[in-house]
Amino acid sequence: MMKVLVIFLLNVLGVTVVLASDGGAIALKPVSINLNDKAALYRGAETFIAQCATCHSAEYMRYGRVASDLHLSKTQADRLLPPHLKLGDEMVRFMPADYAKTVFGTVPPDLTLIARVRGADWLYTYLTSFYADPTKRWGVNNAVFPGVNMPDVFAALQGVQEPVYQTVKLPDGSSEQRLVGLKAPLIPGNMPPAEFDAMVRDLVAYMVYMGEPAKLQRMSLGPYVLGFILLFTVLMFLLKTDYWRDIKKPLKAD
Ligand code: HEC
Repeated sequence: MMKVLVIFLLNVLGVTVVLASDGGAIALKPVSINLNDKAALYRGAETFIAQCATCHSAEYMRYGRVASDLHLSKTQADRLLPPHLKLGDEMVRFMPADYAKTVFGTVPPDLTLIARVRGADWLYTYLTSFYADPTKRWGVNNAVFPGVNMPDVFAALQGVQEPVYQTVKLPDGSSEQRLVGLKAPLIPGNMPPAEFDAMVRDLVAYMVYMGEPAKLQRMSLGPYVLGFILLFTVLMFLLKTDYWRDIKKPLKAD
């Protein structure tokens, strides 16, 4: 209860608190993103719609909002918009939910707020940490989401990474193979690693923006607010000096 209260208070103060996620085998990879880089957010949005929107919705976001927040030209907005949709439409998954449930055993979750739940580092690590695991339905597993039911959508671009296991002795005398890291793919992907990395970073940046679009306005408003406070301070200082000049005079006269 206390924990929930503390997290709530921190969230009220604008600090995003990410709950520790389920036992991942590798450390999270930190990712730095720049929400002011509108071109990166646009590239991220393109990737999101091309690669994720088949299965995942972002129901609390409309195409039109993305277009206006990112100051897109009509041509750019048209390129983003799937042919059967209008700018006013929400980003609803293209695949019917019941079909997804049949195929994946679960409806892929809505991703509008996922960056606020998981955090950017987790998303970046998750999207780059699929690895070959023939025991799994889609032939892959994920280092920070063991047993995930999502296929590796980037397998062709990144190549499929190989797991590094270590034998760990358990207290009861038996031993277990545990994942301790990931190796470069045996067959390289179609995209050079640096380019792949940049694409995923842009995608994560887009998801962070989507989780809190108002942040863009808040950030662009910041300098004006600070400028106003500064100007106000100077004015108040001048006013104070002027008042005190009049007050001090009669005192001196005594
Ligand atoms: C072919 C369908 C499919 C595509 C395409 C797909 N996903 Fe998924 N995704 C799933 C399914 C199914 C799950 C649920 C997995 C589970 O709960 O085991 C999932 C889970 C996730 C999760 C974990 C959510 C959580 O529980 O915290 C994230 C994050 C995610 N997907 C992001 C993405 C992103 C980003 C893309 C685009 C690059 C993408 N997915 C593309 C099917 C898909």
